[in-house]
Amino acid sequence: MSRRALVVGNWKLNGSRSANAQLLAAVLQARPFGCDAAVCVPFPYLPETAVTLAGSDLRWGAQDCSAHDSGAYTGEVSAAMLAEFGCRYAIVGHSERRALHGETDQLVADKARAALAHGITPSVCVGETREQREAGQTDAVVKRQLSAVIHALAHCAGEIVVAYEPVWAIGTGLTATPEQAQAVHALLRAQLRAATARADAMTLLYGGSVKPDNAAALFAQPDIDGGLIGGASLKAADFIAICRAAG
Ligand code: PGA
Repeated sequence: MSRRALVVGNWKLNGSRSANAQLLAAVLQARPFGCDAAVCVPFPYLPETAVTLAGSDLRWGAQDCSAHDSGAYTGEVSAAMLAEFGCRYAIVGHSERRALHGETDQLVADKARAALAHGITPSVCVGETREQREAGQTDAVVKRQLSAVIHALAHCAGEIVVAYEPVWAIGTGLTATPEQAQAVHALLRAQLRAATARADAMTLLYGGSVKPDNAAALFAQPDIDGGLIGGASLKAADFIAICRAAG
């Protein structure tokens, strides 16, 4: 891994003000990690997280953003609003949102564009289901998902973070082997090379049951630049260990 590593915690629908305070205090205390690290927290906790992390190198972001800037979109939160608080990252296209909220490749691309337009780095998730992998469709699926984003962003495609998250590995305890993950990462980087001169400087994360005991082997792969961490990001000791493995 020649690029500076990044580890992003995805808290999903978890947390409370007191639990967050404890978790962040422990993570802050454990720095420096030798890698960049961020937490993506539920919307209501963003301002408090921003205050807690102010002046530190621990970054923060959101788990989604609207494709729209404003208007009659009840329940949505825009990238413009997030930017007002200094939000640095927004996860877009997480497989849970694709599966549970019907997000299409085009919507994910529009969200990525909205985030970038407000100075927020979208962490664009791609990944195949177990059925798609078993049918030999992995490469085609992730290429299609990334292609929609590359097309929508045009000359800005080099500004995103890409997270490869095989759906069958998320929250299941099944992790892609380092070789399986690297194969997809290499494919994605090649696709990015065809679109942007920045491809070799871009951060490509792996996500899906990353734990302290498998993180180092994943991060040792040449095209894996860090991780998007779900369950293990809620446990301070695990998140810290994973950040150290990336550093
Ligand atoms: P997991 O989730 O680490 O709990 O598998 C990863 C993610 O969904 O981003």
